[in-house]
Amino acid sequence: MSTNESERALTFWPDGEAEVPTGPVVRVIYVSRSEVRGAVLNEMRRIRDHAVLNNRPYGIRVALLNMNGWFLQWIEGPQDGVDLLLARVGRDRRHHGLMVIHRSQGRPRLFRPWIGAIVQTPESDRQFDLRVHAQFERFNQGEMVEPTAVWLRLSAPPAPDMPRPLGRNPRVMLLSAQGAQAFNLLEWLALNDQRTLVRRRFAGSADDAPDVESDYADFPGYGPRGVRLVANARKGLAMGMTHAFLPEFAAVVLMLDGSAGRNLRLTERVLVACRQVHHSPLIVGLGGGEQVSADIQRLVERQGMPWMAAISPSARPDKTELWQAVEPVLTRLN
Ligand SMILES: Cc1cc2nc3c(=O)[nH]c(=O)nc-3n(C[C@H](O)[C@H](O)[C@H](O)COP(=O)(O)O)c2cc1C
Repeated sequence: MSTNESERALTFWPDGEAEVPTGPVVRVIYVSRSEVRGAVLNEMRRIRDHAVLNNRPYGIRVALLNMNGWFLQWIEGPQDGVDLLLARVGRDRRHHGLMVIHRSQGRPRLFRPWIGAIVQTPESDRQFDLRVHAQFERFNQGEMVEPTAVWLRLSAPPAPDMPRPLGRNPRVMLLSAQGAQAFNLLEWLALNDQRTLVRRRFAGSADDAPDVESDYADFPGYGPRGVRLVANARKGLAMGMTHAFLPEFAAVVLMLDGSAGRNLRLTERVLVACRQVHHSPLIVGLGGGEQVSADIQRLVERQGMPWMAAISPSARPDKTELWQAVEPVLTRLN
């Protein structure tokens, strides 16, 4: 397994209530060296308690990540509030050497007051430091990108053999109407193509908050820009991280099954999430002929979203048949 692809991420508190902001906001990402020794989880929880209380009056939303001895914080909100927070956080002894690596004004991407994650990666601290400093250089040279691009570059960089296009490698989300079929298909495909499967687990903080998994693998061979396939859990659609990154997806593949009710419920959940983040990815209905119904297509098109059917000639397609049906769609995304 290549080092910077392999990671394990944990978020450990439930998302706050969704408040969908409108209008442009200031988006800042900084990195800092963590001084937290021992239980990072407990310290993150303490920070979370402050953030949830203090950020709201200023209309601030944050995502905080701890990885490789660094904090990465992504802050969004009105200019004054963001700068006040930066000044306050800069005095905190739990970290030092704060460096802003992204500042822009644009559409809000964080739709929850707080998102927290710890990513554990076998990548050496030295390698990660180099990537942090490379990002700092890019920022100083005036690079203009979305904050999501900076966040992904640091926390989930593309596999070394992925094409380096001008834009980014397309991302495609796999979701299944039932069970863990999206995860199984991705695992099977990664094994077949000898690609590294990166497994990440996001867990709720409360005892009754379920764990949420999100796995991905990069495939350089599909289309000129390659493709990252991300398998998500259905319940993960409600998570802040998923919302923030949903606009990064070129397509969402719905793996439909024999139950019309389940298929409709899955489609509805995806459409709601897309409405919340004002994003219209291509929705691909994948399955046997009967499973990819006109009802699903109507539902998607009624929301003005692009639709494509990837229908297998087999009534109950196995993984090979599913892949044969969807592969041409993915290749055409580029
Ligand atoms: C990496 C990091 C991120 C933080 N993020 C926030 C935040 O988003 N909001 C917040 O109110 N406090 C945050 N804090 C905590 C503040 O630095 C500070 O301790 C807290 O707001 C209490 O400030 P006060 O003692 O001036 O009330 C963060 C601390 C660290 C180390």
